[in-house]
Amino acid sequence: MKIITKSEQETENFAKEIGKKLKGDEIIALYGDLGVGKTAFTRGLVSCFWGKNAVTSPTFTLVNEYAAPKFKIYHFDMYRIKNLEDLESTGFFDYMYKGVFVIEWSENIENYLPEKTIKIYIEKNENDSERIITLKGWDNK
Ligand SMILES: Nc1ncnc2c1ncn2[C@@H]1O[C@H](COP(=O)(O)OP(=O)(O)OP(=O)(O)O)[C@@H](O)[C@H]1O
Ligand SMILES: [Mg+2]
Repeated sequence: MKIITKSEQETENFAKEIGKKLKGDEIIALYGDLGVGKTAFTRGLVSCFWGKNAVTSPTFTLVNEYAAPKFKIYHFDMYRIKNLEDLESTGFFDYMYKGVFVIEWSENIENYLPEKTIKIYIEKNENDSERIITLKGWDNK
């Protein structure tokens, strides 16, 4: 599945619709360059459980935890993760399947993602405010 969003708000709205369909143990891997909209996507997804301001980038904390009514959401930023030891230190393997994962910079941990990971690629389009969002592993939900 592929869609084009024309603004940050549209990306958030799209992610919110994804959020509404979550059961509680999905692993969502986000891919895309600096400033492409990974945090905006996460903010939108989480906003179906709370207000918009709850989400900030976990660049320094590596993982933020949000308690949705029925499950937790673990929001990872793998930008600084270089090896397995780094990854273990985030709690990635301890939290897996105990909540929903939303992962920024999934490129850095590609080898450690389970097979049933939902992969979401965000790319800039020619127009500055447009993003092409491609979903893999989501269609049969
Ligand atoms: N269609 C769009 N969807 C999402 N963001 C957009 C769109 N058009 C423009 N933007 C802008 O792109 C930026 C996305 O920032 P955001 O922090 O979400 O990116 P990121 O991928 O998380 O970056 P980082 O790699 O630093 O974590 C914002 O400034 C936002 O306003
Ligand atoms: Mg970000």
